[in-house]
Amino acid sequence: MWALSLSASEVEAVQALTREIALEHQSVEEPQFTRRATLYAHELPRRIRQFLNEFKLLEPADGVCLISGYPIDNTGIGKTPSHWKWKLDATASLPEQIMFVLYGCLLGEPFAWATQQDGYLMHDVFPIEGNKYDQLGTGSEQTLWWHTEDAFHPYRADYLGLMCLRNPEGVATTLGSPDLSRLSQEQLDVLFQPRYVIKPDESHSEKNESDLHKQSRENNGDALLNIAFEKIRKLYSAPPQVSILFGDRQNPYICLDPYFTTPLDDEAGAALNALAQTVDDNLHEVVLQPGDCLFVDNYRTVHGRKAFKARYDGTDRWLKRLNLTRDLRKSHGSRCGPEMRVML
Ligand SMILES: [Fe+2]
Repeated sequence: MWALSLSASEVEAVQALTREIALEHQSVEEPQFTRRATLYAHELPRRIRQFLNEFKLLEPADGVCLISGYPIDNTGIGKTPSHWKWKLDATASLPEQIMFVLYGCLLGEPFAWATQQDGYLMHDVFPIEGNKYDQLGTGSEQTLWWHTEDAFHPYRADYLGLMCLRNPEGVATTLGSPDLSRLSQEQLDVLFQPRYVIKPDESHSEKNESDLHKQSRENNGDALLNIAFEKIRKLYSAPPQVSILFGDRQNPYICLDPYFTTPLDDEAGAALNALAQTVDDNLHEVVLQPGDCLFVDNYRTVHGRKAFKARYDGTDRWLKRLNLTRDLRKSHGSRCGPEMRVML
């Protein structure tokens, strides 16, 4: 894996920069912050910029990079919340969130989904008791099966970022890429053809909208969000036919989420199973430590999480998550303006 460990002077430089930015902005959700974030990222230490720039340009086969060595104040960030809806740590972990967004801006543009985590840009990943058995980042008791993030959607992220704030139990993130050399030319042909449908995962479901958000929507109305949920319902009831592999035949990209995928015929199913087996055989685990920022190339590598027993006492594993696109413009028809970050 591509890895960079920050030196003491780099940590100091990052802290000085994020503290200065935190004086200007209350939250990473502020439009003024997202407008300037790429500009701020130019002030990060050169070694960090070079590392992320080369990860982006060289597209290493394992599709993952890790920046570690940033110290997290375990008391200062507060307890792991029981729900993401309150954004209780908006101030407490603001410098860390700023750092994470700045790193992300060196790979792409951060964006949000109107239908996921109430449209926030910065997602939280920690166990929620009511989601215990769900295929969600906020689940725990079941393995989160490996997947391409938002595989069902044409505007899915190019990169998925995960920043660890706390992980005392050492819960593992799983990562893997297929070994296409183990497949026949016929199987590859099938995987390049639109012989599959992929349904939206539950994180975009209306039932996972928070009660706070739902109440405000019912009181004030939000026609755009209603349209966004309607789009998700349509993608669920009539998902488009897609291929699993795309791009260059010699070095294809992947769109892979077997849990939510239905092959349209037996041959397509057999090819998908063969591909999935090569991912299972290559799956490896990374236990993120506080301060680690992991970026996954969502076109090359799948990710998941091992099952674990949550405690719900404020000490559970807590990650922040960011979606990043190389090209915000391709989704302009699904956003309310050129610099708007929320995908409808
Ligand atoms: Fe995911």
